[in-house]
Amino acid sequence: MHASRRPFVGGNWKMNTDLASGAELADALMAALVAAGSEGVIDAAVYPPFPYLFTVGRTLGHSPILLGGQDCAAEASGAFTGQVSADMLCDIGCRSVIIGHSERRHGLQEGDEFLHQKLAIALESGLQAVLCVGETLAQRDDGLAEAVVAKQLRGCFGTLTAETADRVVVAYEPVWAIGTGRTATPQDAQAMHASIRGVLADLYDSRFAAQTRIIYGGSVNAKNARAIFAEPDVDGGLIGGASLKAEDFASICRAAAEAWSAAGGH
Ligand code: 13P
Repeated sequence: MHASRRPFVGGNWKMNTDLASGAELADALMAALVAAGSEGVIDAAVYPPFPYLFTVGRTLGHSPILLGGQDCAAEASGAFTGQVSADMLCDIGCRSVIIGHSERRHGLQEGDEFLHQKLAIALESGLQAVLCVGETLAQRDDGLAEAVVAKQLRGCFGTLTAETADRVVVAYEPVWAIGTGRTATPQDAQAMHASIRGVLADLYDSRFAAQTRIIYGGSVNAKNARAIFAEPDVDGGLIGGASLKAEDFASICRAAAEAWSAAGGH
């Protein structure tokens, strides 16, 4: 953590919960964040499945927890069967959206040019975007991790101006650490986050790089969060499995708040 960047912790529910349990999770999460003393101290967000967004949003009410979509279409509107536009997300109360999660990059072959369109349209709609990047295990083993991530960043930011792109949170999610129980070491995460900040400085400038939040995702849990968040270029986390348990997610938010406070933030 760094004092100048407010921590961001997102809960990506993926294709989990049902209508009732999603609302219950949101309810439990609000209570757990208050109990952990981290409500409103950091930016916390949840990304439920599309059909439950409206209900979860209603449950969250005036809570400072941000509501977000797990994806949005690359087009504004029209004949795109089955897709959900950024404006639709805004319309039902979302303020954030995940773009380029590896389960879409690799599972659904979404490429950087396509993700750039999604990012541009999400930002144009007024959403904050969490842009995911990350290498596969084979790419890491071949020593290509930093180059792969740099290419993803350049392709996805593309021609966006700094004024538009300042609502982007970058999520470094090494594909080999997602849902595997195998986390990057805090040192691995720090090294990649510093490299990402270098690419952002090159794409924009050092001020832009210094103010952009870069969060880590991949098997983060209530036990390992503290050590990862202690690294100076790690500004929070994108949490999958552990975000489905209110207590665990609240502990992770608390770890972020404490790491920030230890770094001199408030
Ligand atoms: P896990 O925390 O389950 O590894 O998932 C990480 C992730 O993909 C968050 O977007």
